[in-house]
Amino acid sequence: MLAKQSSIRVALALVALITILVWYSSGSLSSPHRVSSFADYGRKSGLLGDIGNATWGFEDILVVSLPTRTDRRDGMQLQAALSEVRIKFVDAIIGKTIPDNAIPKTTQHDRMGDASIGSWRAHMNAIHEVVARNLSSALILEDDVDWDIRIRQQLHDFALSAQALTQPLTGSSHTYADPTYPHPAEGAPGAVPDLMFGSLPQTIPPKMSPYGDDWDLLWLGHCGMRFVSPENPVAPKARVIHLNDETCPEKRYLWSITGPFKLVDDYPQHTRAVHHSEEGVCSLGYAISQRGARKLLYELGTKDLRDGFDILLRFFCNGGGGRKPHMCLSLSPGLFHHHRAAGPLAAQSDIGDHGDGFRDQALTDMVRWSVRLNAETLLDGGTVFHDQYPNSDDA
Ligand SMILES: *[C@@H]1O[C@H](CO)[C@@H](O)[C@H](O)[C@H]1NC(C)=O
Ligand SMILES: *[C@@H]1O[C@H](CO)[C@@H](O)[C@H](O)[C@H]1NC(C)=O
Repeated sequence: MLAKQSSIRVALALVALITILVWYSSGSLSSPHRVSSFADYGRKSGLLGDIGNATWGFEDILVVSLPTRTDRRDGMQLQAALSEVRIKFVDAIIGKTIPDNAIPKTTQHDRMGDASIGSWRAHMNAIHEVVARNLSSALILEDDVDWDIRIRQQLHDFALSAQALTQPLTGSSHTYADPTYPHPAEGAPGAVPDLMFGSLPQTIPPKMSPYGDDWDLLWLGHCGMRFVSPENPVAPKARVIHLNDETCPEKRYLWSITGPFKLVDDYPQHTRAVHHSEEGVCSLGYAISQRGARKLLYELGTKDLRDGFDILLRFFCNGGGGRKPHMCLSLSPGLFHHHRAAGPLAAQSDIGDHGDGFRDQALTDMVRWSVRLNAETLLDGGTVFHDQYPNSDDA
């Protein structure tokens, strides 16, 4: 009798154990790892640990936003709180309220559309603030972006990659892992071997920023970016290849407005690449150093205005439109992407015409564990997250 009861208990315990295991492994398939606590990054040595701080290792985070779009400000404020970051809104401006005299014009041409003028001024106000407050660096975001719950891990990986590309090698002061850095020599090869994220070279730790000491702009959120082409005479050619980045969706979910999309053509699934910028589109999110902010104020604030802000950023990075090229790092896919809220498509933008359709289901481009779309889970203290772009073998 006793023996029978205890074997029933053992059987029950086994069933419970199996249930827990099955539940756990199915949970872990849709969300392969628990979110690593923010404190993990605070324990890293030196400046890298600052990525764990309230501004992701920048001195401030500025969000460009119309004061009237309180819906977007609410959403951004929530996302920031759920990511343990502090943001500051910078007022965007309706283009038609900007007088002709306030628009730099050094050649004869028509005034740009109000939408483009407004967007240019909004970003200029943020850049102006970075210079006025003498911030060592700042991240500037548009107010409709979203990111992955694992953003600190992603920024940490990006920082290590950026350091490998732009910091001098240990034991030297002028040699770099990228032989074409800071600029390719005359007749240098158009391509250099990839640096692999798992075995990055030892470089001298930066003093200014966890992202390195020699950058003007980090283009972290875009809707299209190219690897530096072999013919580009100015931009360094190396890239850091991060294979098996679990935060990167499968290729079928990735897209880039600017082609060719070599990341998808030439590399395995779940690869993220850190590289210098070329042909970037959309200014969803970018960091600027104080040095970069001053140069931006000069290049985009005092010179002839006849292109939209993201095209101006492209000119700033690669040269063109009367602007010099500058030191701009980027990554593909980016880390900040458009969040497309459910609702009337007309509300997607105060500057473009999105017609009178309706979106039933909210989504964020290319972000797997979206902060916005997991808000309820995060608020409830949950740890199993909704993956917007599950792997095909997770079915
Ligand atoms: C976060 O780290 C950056 C980079 O070291 C630093 O400039 C900034 O002041 C820090 N911010 C906070 C709130 O600790
Ligand atoms: C800006 O900050 C730098 C670095 O802290 C400092 O050397 C410089 O004097 C500051 N400039 C102004 C105008 O405050």
